[in-house]
Amino acid sequence: MLNWSEPQNSSAAPQGGEADATGLGEIERGGARVSVDDKRMINARADVNQLLPLKYRWAWEKYLAGCNNHWMPTEVSMQADIALWKSKDGLTEDERRMLKRNLGFFAASESLVANNIVLAIYRHLTNPECRQYLLRQAFEEAIHTHTFQYIVESLGLDEGELFNMYREVPSITDKAAWALKHTQNLDDPDFRTGTLEADQAFLRDLVAFYVIFEGMWFYTGFAQILSLGRRNKMVGIAEQYQYILRDESIHLNFGIDVINQIKIENPHLWTDDFQNEIRAMITEAAELEAAYGRDTMPRGFLGLNAALCEQYMHFIANRRCAQLGLQPVFAEVENPFPWMSEAMDLKKEKNFFETRVIEYQNGGALNWE
Ligand SMILES: [Fe+2]
Ligand SMILES: [Fe+2]
Repeated sequence: MLNWSEPQNSSAAPQGGEADATGLGEIERGGARVSVDDKRMINARADVNQLLPLKYRWAWEKYLAGCNNHWMPTEVSMQADIALWKSKDGLTEDERRMLKRNLGFFAASESLVANNIVLAIYRHLTNPECRQYLLRQAFEEAIHTHTFQYIVESLGLDEGELFNMYREVPSITDKAAWALKHTQNLDDPDFRTGTLEADQAFLRDLVAFYVIFEGMWFYTGFAQILSLGRRNKMVGIAEQYQYILRDESIHLNFGIDVINQIKIENPHLWTDDFQNEIRAMITEAAELEAAYGRDTMPRGFLGLNAALCEQYMHFIANRRCAQLGLQPVFAEVENPFPWMSEAMDLKKEKNFFETRVIEYQNGGALNWE
């Protein structure tokens, strides 16, 4: 059983600088034990190698939820997808274009998100329970990248075409480049949190990747594929996307919790100007997504078109604003894809992996849309 209480002999955080924040500094022999009060999201001087006592249970719970939802793409049969993809009239040209560009967007995006966690976020997030989740998330991003490798191989797709779309298809490049500039800011070897400017840059990165990349752009991507799956097309890929969606909903909500906790601990960062800047980022991201929608779906098909995806993005953007305590950025709109929330509840769908011994535990994750 976990001991949630503070240990004896705890006292003030050890003195230290940047090295202590990363966890790579000299070991302070005989240093004071870490107490809950020493722990901080950013700029903590407490020893970052000590998980217990836990301070942020929400981070630990998300780590457990991620572990409980473990899956592998190779567990999903691709036979029906392969047959449909190879049959001449299985999919329309419009559906093929959307599918390929969607896969191309995700194939590189999973790596961009993983790079951001490992190369930008981890170093500056000075809390062990959050880092524990980041390690789990990083592995999930690897599983997602694996999914696209498995799909490319199963369908015999042109791997060069798919994995280069983020450089070759302008509407995809624009999104990747927009997010990447926030990682690049933090990638500077001289970047350190601890000033107003640097801490806000860190928050911008968290918004760009957790709220916008994973929390907005991925959601229209999921809607596109799940809409095909609802019409019984590419059901293997749709099933994999359901699992990715469940993972991503936890990633998104972890990011929201991290941002909100940093706000609580550092209210001086959350100025009116900064809030407006974040709202402008969300608005711009929705516009980039609308361009991607037009590019992937120049013509609509049953139940899905670029205009509906744009409306969905406005709905999602306002929802993300509310989760961050920001004023909405768009006029109130209805959710054009109410079935997306159901798609997250895998137990309501057909009984996946009936032969599997492991009972998937989606539990609270379903509320984390
Ligand atoms: Fe992912
Ligand atoms: Fe993710």
